This record gives sequence, C-alpha cells and structure tokens, in this order.
Amino acid sequence: MKTITICLEKGGVGKTLIAKELAVGLAGKYHQRVLNCDMDPQGNLTKAQLKLNDPLTIANCLKVVEQFNQGEKSISSALALLKKYFVENDVPYDMADVLKEPSLIKEAIIRTDVDNLDIIPATHRLTESDIQLKTNVQASPCLKLTRALKQVEQEYDFVIIDNPPFTNALLYNAIYACRNHDDLVIIPISIDSGGLEGLYTTLNDLIDTANEGMLDFDFKILPVMAQGNNEDRTAIEMLHQLFPDRVLQSHIRFQGKPIKKASLNRYSLVDKDFNSRHGVADDLRKLVDEVWELCKGGN
Ligand SMILES: Nc1ncnc2c1ncn2[C@@H]1O[C@H](COP(=O)(O)OP(=O)(O)OP(=O)(O)O)[C@@H](O)[C@H]1O
Ligand SMILES: [Mg+2]
Repeated sequence: MKTITICLEKGGVGKTLIAKELAVGLAGKYHQRVLNCDMDPQGNLTKAQLKLNDPLTIANCLKVVEQFNQGEKSISSALALLKKYFVENDVPYDMADVLKEPSLIKEAIIRTDVDNLDIIPATHRLTESDIQLKTNVQASPCLKLTRALKQVEQEYDFVIIDNPPFTNALLYNAIYACRNHDDLVIIPISIDSGGLEGLYTTLNDLIDTANEGMLDFDFKILPVMAQGNNEDRTAIEMLHQLFPDRVLQSHIRFQGKPIKKASLNRYSLVDKDFNSRHGVADDLRKLVDEVWELCKGGN
C-alpha cells in the first residue's frame, strides 16, 4: 500500500480536486484499489466523492424556490430547505471517530460509486478532533491515522489523503501516515506569490517533521492554476531550477468552467465515461499517468 498525501498550507489551490481526480484516475484507468481519506473538516472531498447532498443544478434551485413559495416563506423554512437539499447528510462514522479510535476504520470506510474507490469521510466533527489531538488528550496524537491504516494495508494499493489548508494535528497525522520510502507527498502550488509562500512554509514543516519522525517519504511539487503566459512559465522554470527532480512534469492549468461544471454535476474530469476534451482534463489525466509511473514499482 502506497500513501500519497496532498498538502499545502494555503487555501483554494486545488488540493481537493487533485485528491479526487487522482483517486478516480488510479482506480478507473489503472484498476488500483484506492482509499481516499478526507482530513479536512470542510468535508469537500467527501461531498464530491459521496454525492451526499443534491447538486446545485437549475432544476434543484427551481424546486427549492417552488417549495419555499408554497410554504410560510420564513427564514426557518428557507433553512430547512437548504438543509434538505444542499447540506451534507449524516454518515455513520467519520474520520473523527477513526482518529479517536483507530480500530473503527473498517466501519468508517464507505464505498463510492466508482469501482475500486472507497473513502473515509470527514464532517465538521474533525474540528473537535484537532483540538483533542493538540491538547494531548490522546496518546501518540500524530500516529492515529497511521495505526488505523495499518489495519487495511492488505486491502488497498493506494491511500490518497486530502488535507486542510493549515498546519494542525490533522495535517501531522497525514504526514506521519507517509512514513515509507515509497510514499509520496504532493504539494500543489499556485503560481503566484501566495503559492510560493505556502510552498516555503509547507516545505519547512515537512522537512522538520520528516527529521523528527524519521519519515522517509519523497515529495513532489505540482504547479497548479497555471495561466500559460510568460510570467507563469518563467516561475515554473524557476521551480525546476531550485528543486531539481522535485517538480512534476505535469502542470494543472487554470480553467474554471469545466471544473465548475464537473463539480456541479458530480462527475470526474478523468472519468473515461465522460471523455472530457477540456485542456484541464488532459492535464489531470497526465498527472494520473505520471503519478502511476512514479509509483507502480513500489506496489
Ligand atoms: N485548475 C483549476 N482551474 C480553475 N479552478 C479550479 C482549479 N482547481 C480548482 N479550482 C476551483 O478552485 C476552488 C478551490 O479548489 P479546491 O477546493 O480543490 O482547493 P483546496 O486547495 O482543496 O481548497 P481548501 O484549502 O479550501 O481545501 C474550487 O472551486 C475548484 O473548483
Ligand atoms: Mg480542500
């Protein structure tokens, strides 16, 4: 079992998109048994993979408005409709339970509708887990996820972990889960000064953690949200010079429309049934191929 963690201490760069598409690509194209782990209390990966709430389609919006107009038109009825259609539904167990009691991992795993792809979901309860782990209410707080995953290591070829955008005990659990030579940390960085600042912070934290925890993972930088202009090309070239062999050949371009459409309609851009012809879908497919080439020897 190979663990890949996707992290950058900066929000909104596409970590969740990458965790989702990589998992679907490795499960679909390469028939690998994949477990997605959602370590972000926002639960965006969970919502994308499990389709727990209804998509924000025109049809659903019209249905909500119609039901609102037929009712008493109060704030509480508006909230009830939002909850019914667009707020996550309950899952029996989630990552918060696994971090508290690693032996619950098998109960917490949920099948997705993609063959070979399962997920441990996250809900807002993870915010509490972070506080409990930090205040050392629990023993070995950084090793909870590692212990849990050990129990399913024969059942999966890949574990792909999505992370929150800041340093916390959840992120440390994800980094410690990448303890072996074959494991990989992917750092998606947006090509702007905020992205480079995030790279600086994340790399410093990763190096410190790897030294302290005697972890042996490799890390790779993935340029994302790239615009294809001279400035961005030069910045990417600078990264190749500064971090030789550490920058993936794949780049993910900025292309909002197809990503938004896929997200609203709940499909994956690398899913072969949808056969998306957009440039960003090609970028994501290339990333899946590159990661597969990097990792296949280790399985
Ligand atoms: N390459 C891209 N081009 C255009 N839009 C993108 C791209 N990648 C992601 N997005 C959009 O940007 C937003 C943030 O993406 P995503 O949620 O994957 O980022 P994130 O790093 O996981 O954010 P957070 O730190 O909040 O968890 C989403 O609306 C997503 O659809
Ligand atoms: Mg995210």
